[in-house]
Amino acid sequence: MFPILEAEFLAPEIKRFVIEAPRVARKREAGQFVIVRLHERGERIPLTIADGDPDRGTITLIVQGVGKTTRLMNMLEAGDAVLDLVGPLGKPSDVRKYGTVVVIGGGVGTAIAWPTARAMKEAGNRVVVIVGARTKELVLLEPELREIADELEIVTDDGSYGRKGVVIDPLCERILRGSRIDLVLAIGPVRMMQAVAEMTRPSGIRTIVSLNSLMVDGTGMCGGCRVATKEGTRFACVDGPEFDAHIVDFDVLARRNRTYAVSEAKALDAFRADPIAAIECVRRSCRLDEPQADESLAEVASR
Ligand code: FAD
Ligand code: FES
Ligand code: MG
Repeated sequence: MFPILEAEFLAPEIKRFVIEAPRVARKREAGQFVIVRLHERGERIPLTIADGDPDRGTITLIVQGVGKTTRLMNMLEAGDAVLDLVGPLGKPSDVRKYGTVVVIGGGVGTAIAWPTARAMKEAGNRVVVIVGARTKELVLLEPELREIADELEIVTDDGSYGRKGVVIDPLCERILRGSRIDLVLAIGPVRMMQAVAEMTRPSGIRTIVSLNSLMVDGTGMCGGCRVATKEGTRFACVDGPEFDAHIVDFDVLARRNRTYAVSEAKALDAFRADPIAAIECVRRSCRLDEPQADESLAEVASR
């Protein structure tokens, strides 16, 4: 059981959690993630470790409510707990001194990119951050990014904050005017990462993306996170999640990510019909004084 010490909304549907997980906090590096299971019948979902405090024994997760499990998690408050949390998983980001690093975050991808952007700055790089969001209220971590970025550009789809457009626009301008770029790190929706890859391919700018493949175990055993690349099949959980953007087949990734769309929509409908029952399920699973906490896995599975 992993107690939640802090929980606050950063934006509509986007919540920041500080969770007690001392061993993960001690070992985690930028770019790594955890697999979380909220309750005994819950599914496993991967979430990036946005921050960690080894002295306090805590990690920070930033969660966008998109479906049943993330929306359920975003109903949890300080004082609640999650049942399982495994990590740190995945390879850490390859942090070293490149020169000028352009970090591009789309939507909740900004939160996933933040720890690596900070580590790149600490490694002595000049860090340019481009943040994209649909609208002003969805712009994430602006104060945190201002602290580490040598330049910060904000782009919104509707022009309600920063400039109107998409994250590709400022990247394109920089490339066209010949600005120095030694590395691009892009994290966000699949089609955004694909567009960045196509933009940097002709000039051969080294480009890294963090892939949001479907994951189950996070240890290379189930094959769920299979990624097609020019160099053959890879597994995002153990070979990534960061990959060279120019070798990834994004069309296969987008197709695979939609595999369970129908069941996901059904699960979300059922959750919306009775969110209180779902939250009670988490709270029951995470209470040590409840009788079922002593049941064996076999007993739980047979119900
Ligand atoms: P569902 O309705 O079940 O699914 C919505 C969509 O989310 C699906 O169509 C699919 O594309 C994706 N998805 C569903 N199940 C999984 C799964 N088991 N693994 C991966 N993707 C899935 N989101 C955040 O908000 N914050 C993060 O820090 C974050 N870090 C991630 C790190 C990694 C390495 C990966 C692979 C994904 C990360 N995600 C993060 C995405 C997050 O895992 C999904 O949004 C979440 O699993 C959706 O679950 P759901 O039940 O709420 O939605
Ligand atoms: Fe199972 Fe990667 S999540 S192999
Ligand atoms: Mg789900």
